[in-house]
Amino acid sequence: MTAKTIDGKAVSLKIKEQVKTRVEKLKEQGIVPGLAVVLVGEDSASHTYVKNKKKTCESLGMRSDLHQFPDTLEEAELLSVIDDLNKDPDIHGILVQLPLPKQIDEFKVIQAIDPSKDVDGFHPVSVGNMVIGKEAFLPCTPHGIMKLLEHYGINPAGKHTVVIGRSNIVGKPIGQLMLQQDATVTYCHSKTADLASFTRQADILVSAIGKAKLIDHSFVKPGAVVIDVGMNRDENGKLCGDVDLADVQETASFLTPVPGGVGPMTIAMLMENTVQSAENGLL
Ligand code: GUN
Repeated sequence: MTAKTIDGKAVSLKIKEQVKTRVEKLKEQGIVPGLAVVLVGEDSASHTYVKNKKKTCESLGMRSDLHQFPDTLEEAELLSVIDDLNKDPDIHGILVQLPLPKQIDEFKVIQAIDPSKDVDGFHPVSVGNMVIGKEAFLPCTPHGIMKLLEHYGINPAGKHTVVIGRSNIVGKPIGQLMLQQDATVTYCHSKTADLASFTRQADILVSAIGKAKLIDHSFVKPGAVVIDVGMNRDENGKLCGDVDLADVQETASFLTPVPGGVGPMTIAMLMENTVQSAENGLL
């Protein structure tokens, strides 16, 4: 069996086209969806992510404001910026790029965002609503993964999903979204003993651990769907995921490549959440 490639780039383009149409409709009513992105410090990956988010916003006709600060920014100053953005009627989404410098309490900052503008889906109110299956902004990467599965006709119901990683951004929420679609979910993480004994039981394997090419065919059940959330550099400095794609190709049924798999979906879902937030303002 040769695995089918899950083309996140192609699916994300379709979603962005739909977002663009929704933006045009809003503009006819005098509303320009606006995303405020807050970036603190010099982390180069964060700068790249933020640049891409801004560029995508603008390509879809949305407003995008970047609020950039040095890594010496005090927590109180950041909280005051968020307070202003919460009150700004032209801003529909607020995204604070993580990680933040260590003098700033991330949780306090996330909590300060108005949940109605929480397009990252990180606020405890959003997380709570997601877990109980109520309307909420869903975190962009896990939501993007669910959209990919849907697009390729992969139904998680009754399947064993094994998640590697337990971050608040990806690992925990992807397990919850899978559970809501009737998957049986196992969480593995850095302290899991004999990781492969769990991953080999997965019908759907989601890897979000950040270890270049760790997952080879010995971790994968024949016919499994393998979703790679890793963004790593290999020994030559080339971008790669957690999965050794070449080695797993003949074992898995579906694979997401890195780049071009989950990554483009994250931005597309952020755009969708932002336009949704602007539409919610009309309700
Ligand atoms: N840092 C890494 N991924 C993300 C993300 O999806 N959102 C934010 N705000 N920060 C991140």
